Amino acid sequence: MFRRTKSIDKPVRLRFEDREIIAQEGDSVAAALLAAGVIQFREQTESGGERGPFCMIGNCFDCLIEIDDVPNLQACRHTVREGMQLRKQCGLTRLEPDNE
Ligand code: FES
Repeated sequence: MFRRTKSIDKPVRLRFEDREIIAQEGDSVAAALLAAGVIQFREQTESGGERGPFCMIGNCFDCLIEIDDVPNLQACRHTVREGMQLRKQCGLTRLEPDNE
């Protein structure tokens, strides 16, 4: 669905769940995950519907994600860092392994 138009020349390694993601220095977390093929960042509490980035400018809050154990952060407004740990969340709380 999404792909990079330029190759990565300044790689930054991070993890989304159990998967290693290699991003470009300066990428937003949302852009890095989308480029890696990740489109679901969280689930809705009531319906369990899948949510992912929509606006990419901080307005919709559909990109909420857990970054380094801090939930409810907007992936489109945070820049990747080496060793960053990312996790999906359910509503305003983190998804526990039994719920996935
Ligand atoms: S994609 Fe809309 S707030 Fe992040």
